[in-house]
Amino acid sequence: MTRRVPVAGERPYEVVIGPGAQAELALVLAGTPKVAVVHAPPLAAAAGAAVETLQTAGVAAEAVVVPDGEAAKTAQVAAEVWDEFGRLGLTRSDAVVGLGGGAVTDLAGFLAATWTRGIRVVQVPTSLLGMVDAAVGGKTGINTAAGKNLVGAFHPPAGVLADTDLLAGLPDAEFRAGLAEVVKCGFIADGRILELLAADPTGRRDTEELIERAVRVKAAAVGEDLLDTGVREFLNYGHTLGHAVERVEDFGWRHGEAVAVGLVFAAELAGQAGLLTRAEVDRHRELLTAMGLPTTYAGDWARLQEVMRVDKKARGASLRFVVLDGLGNPRILTDPDQAWLDAAWAAVSGDDS
Ligand code: GLY
Repeated sequence: MTRRVPVAGERPYEVVIGPGAQAELALVLAGTPKVAVVHAPPLAAAAGAAVETLQTAGVAAEAVVVPDGEAAKTAQVAAEVWDEFGRLGLTRSDAVVGLGGGAVTDLAGFLAATWTRGIRVVQVPTSLLGMVDAAVGGKTGINTAAGKNLVGAFHPPAGVLADTDLLAGLPDAEFRAGLAEVVKCGFIADGRILELLAADPTGRRDTEELIERAVRVKAAAVGEDLLDTGVREFLNYGHTLGHAVERVEDFGWRHGEAVAVGLVFAAELAGQAGLLTRAEVDRHRELLTAMGLPTTYAGDWARLQEVMRVDKKARGASLRFVVLDGLGNPRILTDPDQAWLDAAWAAVSGDDS
């Protein structure tokens, strides 16, 4: 059985969740003359199945191979694929499928946003992180020497097919890291997610319900605020410190692991500000620990603060955090007291000096 989450906007679309959801490519792209299925080498079999599904439906589909992981998100790879699109003769009536993790769906979305000033993209995320976050909401982009995702476009997909059969090959550590974005949605909006994860911290028992609930939280935010000037920022709960940890660790930490530490930090900060009770702060730490995600980080506090100040979410020189004013009630805390920041850091790092 598939679950369906509508996403509102100028061009509304659906996120389809469940085993075999990928087969809906034939429905979403019915009547499309040509489709380029962009994927990395490890997903050649799944991409082959997507091409076959489309060809059986009368669509001229071709696989386009890009490098695996972040290596796909470069201007050089984008230029090579634009050349390939030219050879395939893709026009504005045609479409792109992004089949892979967050890096491939970010690239595929960017290629679709830019080719002939915008063609349709259907995202087929293959990681949990991609299903609940990267593939939904239309943020697309590539990296440059100046930083990650600095070149990109808001280009909502024509559909997202979160085929849970594709999660079978995902390593446990990747699945756990994806769950960090799911539990984040629990803290900011949907307490049932917290209950489900407390009952089964592996997230394996209720995977489809967890994905559906997390996607509903994201869909509500991006449906109201595609361009990230308002409520969409709440999706960055845990991300201000999380992004800084990723940068300081030279992206050697998984995104979700860094976010998990950032969630504990943000909860401690809210505790300092009198917005969360000690029990609510502890609930963050206990649940993330049960899920096998990191809740402590011993690093260079001065360096982390420096990086947080240049985080792209910092407006001007101010330091902004998403915090909870009670569970399920996110708000922005701007330039918190240094004493609160230091105390939250001490709680995360174990450094009371
Ligand atoms: N990953 C957060 C967002 O899409 O806004």
